[in-house]
Amino acid sequence: MKDLLTKGSIPILLGTGGVGKTTIAAALGLAGASADLNTAVITVDPSERLRDALGLAHLGGQPTRIGGRQLAAAGLDRQLRLSAMMLDVTGAWDAIVERLIADPATRRRIFDNPFYRSLTAEFAGSEAFAALQQLYDLHQTGAFELEVVDTPPASHSFEFLQTPARLIRLLDSRTARWLFTPSLSAGRIAMKVASKAARFVVRELERFVGANVLSTITDFFAAAAESMDAIVDRLHKTEALLHSPAVRFVMVTTTEPDRIRQARELLGQMDSEGLKLAAIVINRFLDERTWSAVADSAERPLSHLAEISELRSSLTRGDGDADGFGRLIHHFEEYRDRTLDEIERVAAFARELPPGVKLAIAPEIEAGVRDLAALWRISRYVTSGTAILKPLEAAASRLRARPRPHQGDGSPSLKGSS
Ligand SMILES: Nc1ncnc2c1ncn2[C@@H]1O[C@H](COP(=O)(O)OP(=O)(O)OP(=O)(O)O)[C@@H](O)[C@H]1O
Ligand SMILES: [Mg+2]
Repeated sequence: MKDLLTKGSIPILLGTGGVGKTTIAAALGLAGASADLNTAVITVDPSERLRDALGLAHLGGQPTRIGGRQLAAAGLDRQLRLSAMMLDVTGAWDAIVERLIADPATRRRIFDNPFYRSLTAEFAGSEAFAALQQLYDLHQTGAFELEVVDTPPASHSFEFLQTPARLIRLLDSRTARWLFTPSLSAGRIAMKVASKAARFVVRELERFVGANVLSTITDFFAAAAESMDAIVDRLHKTEALLHSPAVRFVMVTTTEPDRIRQARELLGQMDSEGLKLAAIVINRFLDERTWSAVADSAERPLSHLAEISELRSSLTRGDGDADGFGRLIHHFEEYRDRTLDEIERVAAFARELPPGVKLAIAPEIEAGVRDLAALWRISRYVTSGTAILKPLEAAASRLRARPRPHQGDGSPSLKGSS
């Protein structure tokens, strides 16, 4: 992951809802700043704790530097240049209109237009599209060396990545312009709308924003007509930025079977979009104890799980509360089996990743991600660069292959590890 955190690079975090995109974006930002890059993180709707951790409690859409005192409290260098900003969805669209449309009355007409309001609020991917617009603006200022971009959940797949291109096709189409030329009378529009080409455009517009009264669409185009070229030009530039080599897509996933399945689907969609994935972060994979045991080469990987496998045989030695112990051991065994399943699932997923995609892992932080110190721990895990999956997989398959000790077979007992 360190390779992605270089000067000029723009990591964009993708993934389904709640997998940790915002958390990992912030952690990557911290890692970038600690590599001495002046870093900005565009976050989307961070949890309250993360907002506090980043000092974003009272912040709008402007990048704000994390204070030296906060950094020092987390044991970090107070000189780190890390700024964070929150995505402002409607603000992003309105800012475009404000920049491009000079006349206040025309602007008001656009802001009040129901088609505009649903265009900016409702179409699938609207928020992520706004994130791209804010990225574009931030990037234009040239103020930062590294820009990490969080996105809203990709519940509608990656529609937002296609959005600039789709909007360009619609707004810039000759049919759209012909259809919505301002000087037309209502009767002539009705005639035009009856034509096949026009029906197509209207249908496409409705796909974006739901059914809208045609007159509001017409009015929007009329008001925006003078700036349509500028709007389309901007969309072209956003589209170009999205496909520039500086942009590195990083997918975040957790390890539940349905999340892994969704991650696979997203991978397929990106591929068909011609977008290259740079890295995958498997978040909340294993607990820190298990993970660290693997990362620390002095320790035998998964030895604590092997100990669990030996617990049951110790039970027959006439312990008093056999029932209570039995239940406790069952609990541990479930934990062991869950852990082994998780490792196998992740290993299978990792094996099928396209070559060149980097893999990073962040374990579950048991106490939660409440402060900069926890974020810093995640950054270190994610950028550790050690190859951990192989030893983990090997240890897991050794453990699976072991015959389970039967009760009373005299196999090695607990010996003080209770
Ligand atoms: N490695 C981790 N260990 C413990 N908790 C985590 C970890 N990663 C994320 N979380 C917690 O999981 C929750 C969801 O994380 P986050 O908000 O980053 O997800 P998201 O993908 O941005 O969600 P959304 O799709 O809603 O934007 C948060 O409460 C966060 O603190
Ligand atoms: Mg988020």
